[in-house]
This record gives sequence, structure tokens and C-alpha cells, in this order.
Amino acid sequence: MAEITLRINGSAETLDVQPQVSLLDALREHLGLTGTKKGCDQGACGACTVLADGERINSCLALAMQYEGREITTIEGLDHPLQEAFVRADGLQCGYCTSGQICSAVGMLAEHKEGAPSAATEDLEAAEEELSDEEIRERMSGNLCRCGAYNGIVSAIKEVA
Ligand code: FES
Ligand code: FES
Repeated sequence: MAEITLRINGSAETLDVQPQVSLLDALREHLGLTGTKKGCDQGACGACTVLADGERINSCLALAMQYEGREITTIEGLDHPLQEAFVRADGLQCGYCTSGQICSAVGMLAEHKEGAPSAATEDLEAAEEELSDEEIRERMSGNLCRCGAYNGIVSAIKEVA
């Protein structure tokens, strides 16, 4: 066991964890922050997406110990227009993927704002231009939705972008 201190949603949280404990399990099992979901536990679905210093990461693939000193934001600590936009645009059905979708979209919008291109970006010089549906779908392709709420998800992101 090792004692670590994580910065979660603006607060310092000290916990005892085994070195192999993922950030996802630290959030859910040790801190009771169950808004972050476990889908595949192997980096394939995006349900566990959280923000680390504003960048989206799959928390199931991250060791909790590696994130000491980083600012972790989960859906519980997020206050972003995307949350209401998802409701307005019907961007969810069962809701299991939703916290990951929203955290991922927040990180994605920041990446886009910084001019980071995606595999769908044709003109690298214009990477910071308005997000097309194709761009949004490509940039959000790490977040799966088994309910198929993709049209609503794209609409919500477009509205906020
Ligand atoms: S639970 Fe982490 S990517 Fe699926
Ligand atoms: S809303 Fe059910 S998995 Fe996406």
C-alpha cells in the first residue's frame, strides 16, 4: 500500500492504494466518485474519460499513482455548457457513456481550439476552423455509445463549439 494525494475537482484527496490501482478504480472504489464509468476497462470505450490538467485521458489505463500533483476533473466537478446541451439535443439514452462523452468533448474542444488536427482534417493550415460533423465524429471516435445516440451527441457538441 502507498499513500498518495490526488487533486480531484479542486480538492486534495489522500488515499491508500496498491501501486497497480487504476485512476478509475481510485475514483470509483476509493473516493465514491461513481459518475466516471467503467465500460471495457481496457481503453476501448471511453466511458472512463476524465480530464487531467484539461487533457482527456482514459482513467482505466492510468495508474492513480502517476497522477499525483495533476488536476483531475471528473463529471462531478464539471460545470460546462455541454452538460445542458447534451440534454437539449437528446445526446443520451441510458446515460452510461455520457460522463465520458462530455469530459472527452470538453478536452476535444480545447484541443481543437489549440489547432490540433485530427485524421479527418484535410487542410492542416485551417485546423482551427469550425468543426464539421465529420471532424466531431472523428475526434470523438474514442467514445462509444451502445445506445447509438451519436446524432444528438454531435448536435450538442456543435451547438457549444
Ligand atoms: S473503461 Fe476505460 S476505455 Fe473503456
Ligand atoms: S447513452 Fe447509452 S451507451 Fe451512450
